Amino acid sequence: MYWLNPVADVKRMARAMLTDQVAWLAPSLYVRLTGQTGRGDDEGVARTADYFRTCFLDYFLVPGMPSGQVETYLDGKHVLEYGPGDLPGVALLMIAHGAQSVICVDRFPLCRLSDSCIQVLQNLLDALEGGQRERAEQCFVRRGEPASGLNPERIHYMVKPGGLSGLTDWADLIVSRAVLEHVNSLYATFVDMRTALRAKGIAVHLVDLKSHGLHRRSQLDFLTWPLPLWALMYGHKGVPNRWRVDRYRQILADVGLDTVTLTATALAEQQVIDEIRPYLARPFRQLSDEDMSWLGFWLVCRRPAGVRV
Ligand SMILES: C[S@@+](CC[C@H](N)C(=O)[O-])C[C@H]1O[C@@H](n2cnc3c(N)ncnc32)[C@H](O)[C@@H]1O
Repeated sequence: MYWLNPVADVKRMARAMLTDQVAWLAPSLYVRLTGQTGRGDDEGVARTADYFRTCFLDYFLVPGMPSGQVETYLDGKHVLEYGPGDLPGVALLMIAHGAQSVICVDRFPLCRLSDSCIQVLQNLLDALEGGQRERAEQCFVRRGEPASGLNPERIHYMVKPGGLSGLTDWADLIVSRAVLEHVNSLYATFVDMRTALRAKGIAVHLVDLKSHGLHRRSQLDFLTWPLPLWALMYGHKGVPNRWRVDRYRQILADVGLDTVTLTATALAEQQVIDEIRPYLARPFRQLSDEDMSWLGFWLVCRRPAGVRV
């Protein structure tokens, strides 16, 4: 165990364990009390709408698809998004650009179409023209009116235990951003993904391996809490599961998904790794310096050609 300030550390543990009980027994209350959006601070309507436009574009930029081909690719496709956060901005843009339907699955009921979410969806709608606007308007119960609620034929939002879709052979494209590092069972999520993907389907994920504010002094010291203690403190809150890139590689191989791209987005300095290495919790002790340095990555993976689920 890595004690920095034992009194403060014990207080932190006690508070975290107590609040984890609330998250366990009343997840809806917990997300309401903590005011979670999934994106951190509210940045205003225009910036939030821009955030979703960037997320959408990245899902095609990263696998190397020219922007001019996105509509042709998406035409009639089924898209699954894990962990959309508090509003289905990416889903709306997927439909606008030709997708037939989007299923958003989350473990927490974050999406409640509050006034500010409605304004962001309206901003996204207003920036669209022609066929894109027409398709996007179909995402709502009353055409073009976000306040009327989501039309489940276009965007189906579901809250499921473990955030698992339960879909089989349905998705042509699966996406997530800043979600996989939060899922309670990474293995179960990849099995769910593998089962949900259709032949030739691809999955594109942005994963953030940083501490999400849960470090004390150095960037990686959140990897020193023993696994059972971390589970007691944070197991039901959706905070980072702490798995590093080596675990993702292993799971991809175990569930039978081909890796197309696995690229680091940020790296920790060697000094940070050297400082924390003697105190690491058991699952992280065997990690190479290279794998330990990854603080985030893009992953593009796909079902192997010709192999059925
Ligand atoms: C940091 S937020 C990211 C939200 C959104 N993707 C974005 O970029 O704004 C993490 C999201 O993952 C969701 N989440 C946590 N555990 C999950 C799980 N097991 N399956 C699916 N979603 C999960 C959270 O509820 C939240 O919506």
